Amino acid sequence: MTEKDFVLSGHLELKDEGKVGYKAPSNIALVKYWGKKEGQIPANPSISFTLSACATTTSITFKKLSKPTGQYSFDLLFEGKPKPSFHPKIETFFKRIDPFLPFLKHYHFNIETSNSFPHSSGIASSASGMAAMALCLMEIERMHLPAMEEDLFLSKASFLARLGSGSACRSVEGPLVAWGNHEDILESTNLYGIKYPFDMHPIFNNYHDTILLVDKGQKQVSSTVGHDLVNGHPFSEQRFQQAHSNLTRLKTILKEGNVKEFIKVVESEALTLHAIMMTGDPYFILMKPNTLEIINKIWKFREKSGSHVCFTLDAGANVHVLYPQNEKEKVNQFIVNELVAYCENRQYICDQIGGGAVKMKV
Ligand code: DP6
Repeated sequence: MTEKDFVLSGHLELKDEGKVGYKAPSNIALVKYWGKKEGQIPANPSISFTLSACATTTSITFKKLSKPTGQYSFDLLFEGKPKPSFHPKIETFFKRIDPFLPFLKHYHFNIETSNSFPHSSGIASSASGMAAMALCLMEIERMHLPAMEEDLFLSKASFLARLGSGSACRSVEGPLVAWGNHEDILESTNLYGIKYPFDMHPIFNNYHDTILLVDKGQKQVSSTVGHDLVNGHPFSEQRFQQAHSNLTRLKTILKEGNVKEFIKVVESEALTLHAIMMTGDPYFILMKPNTLEIINKIWKFREKSGSHVCFTLDAGANVHVLYPQNEKEKVNQFIVNELVAYCENRQYICDQIGGGAVKMKV
């Protein structure tokens, strides 16, 4: 599908009012999206596990304005309270998606949103938050166009979510989502995330992600600054090529269930993301001493026990510990005995691979 397919044509007879709701999960990238071009176009393809426990639930009540003002009209409650600091982000999001949802300026929206994870966990809610909001808005569109194909609904929801936050386009479906043009994935596109179209070995079913909260503070470097730093970075071209070849490697790994090779790709991707940040201008170290302690403990444990546990990182200090279902008990013991001590207030979140966003009864 192209951008044109997402533009609504013809006249919509607008409904007076209604309510919609969605719960959208977070996701964790195996091959990282880091670097983007104008219009939220990724500099390289990425792939992620959709999560299930970490999620945002959003409902939108919409009411037709008797006199549209040409401005966006909305109220927002975050965890039950007004949150004016979110308004500019939503305003920007609405502006970007306006050409594709012409009804936006004709309604007043009451947006209520909450996260399943604590706000101060250092876990970014932009992926799940933007995905939930995009799905709600698509549901409003579908109320007007009930014959809409499911495929178009999901692709456009992901497309809109991308315009809110790049990684959000990978939070609509599950369990594995690819985003960005890739030579070996015919259906792949820079415009939206697609459900991974190839075989996935059963070892990856129910894969676990225990998120160790090493630093619960605000992100030290915003995604915007991070992505910007990749533009003009001396290693960026090689990095983009590497992401392409890592995705090619993963295709075979995911099919064959080669967990040893999976570990190599996933850990290398995480460290590369951080290496790019360390070698940029300006440069940043996003890990904390405890991040490194945890990584070293994981490596030692793997060597000693033969386990297939591995780690990945986002653009921050928290560590995502990934492992297959059949090692759950052994790895959980290890986490509690050896890793939790490195978390802020011993806090961590148990998550696992999930099936994507779900519509809420409202
Ligand atoms: C490090 O999606 O937060 O999590 O498009 O500017 O909103 P924007 O960036 P964002 O970037 C997150 C990148 C990452 C890696 C990944 O999820 O692929």
